[in-house]
Amino acid sequence: MITVSNLSMSFGQGRRHVQVLQDIDFHLASGEFVSIIGRSGSGKSTFLDVLMGLIQPTQGTVERADRASMSYVFQKPALLPWRNVLRNVYLPLQVHGVRRADRLKAGMDALRKVGLGYAAHLFPFQLSGGMAQRVAIARALVENPDILLMDEPFSALDPILRENMNFNLLSLWQRTQKTVLFVTHSIEEALILSDRILILENGTFVQRFDVTLERPRTYESFQDPRFGELYRHIRNALPLQPNLPRAAPDEASAS
Ligand SMILES: Nc1ncnc2c1ncn2[C@@H]1O[C@H](COP(=O)(O)OP(=O)(O)OP(=O)(O)O)[C@@H](O)[C@H]1O
Ligand SMILES: [Mg+2]
Repeated sequence: MITVSNLSMSFGQGRRHVQVLQDIDFHLASGEFVSIIGRSGSGKSTFLDVLMGLIQPTQGTVERADRASMSYVFQKPALLPWRNVLRNVYLPLQVHGVRRADRLKAGMDALRKVGLGYAAHLFPFQLSGGMAQRVAIARALVENPDILLMDEPFSALDPILRENMNFNLLSLWQRTQKTVLFVTHSIEEALILSDRILILENGTFVQRFDVTLERPRTYESFQDPRFGELYRHIRNALPLQPNLPRAAPDEASAS
């Protein structure tokens, strides 16, 4: 569905230069659910931005299957404050010239999928953080994309709602055969959802874990011995402390 070759991304020049992604090769197959885990600042959002075409990589290519449509759930909901929830959700359809009756229907359908049918006429300032995030998810679903890029979509939700949203997303993915690339800080969430988990570190995918838990996954999956085993493996692959940028040698010895 998506093939990334030899991708690098850096920002800034001279002393401001930061190399965020380096020589990444990556393939996302049709129907696959892949999660990316990595410390804060490791470049996860940058990677999705490049895949979406929002920023140009400094090196390498991103190829997408012909006619595959793609939506992006941003790390921040980015709702338009002057439009109510429903009008935010159907905005992509409006941009593409879909008739009003059809966009109202598709907008309401998408809102119900995230459990917010009742909130259609609220404005963004009236929403909790978790509600706003779910509106953003509905907006990404409204065009029924083939590929979904999701950047920590559930991190603002309370744990119970988050678990519910995980299983909702799983059933949606199963029913509609979407291809999903999902960023999270939660190992549990990645394990419940994914076929494959990639660890992003120092600009590249340093480890890959195939999640061999049976599907469909349910609350029982948490009890599967392989769940605990994979959890420990992934936990050990992550740095225990945030990997702060190295200080120059003189600064380091002064501290
Ligand atoms: N437009 C930009 N200009 C300069 N530096 C940037 C820009 N965008 C991102 N960066 C830098 O790239 C690095 C990776 O940022 P990114 O947002 O991709 O991290 P992340 O893995 O998504 O982190 P988090 O888990 O906190 O969301 C950071 O060091 C950040 O400061
Ligand atoms: Mg991010």
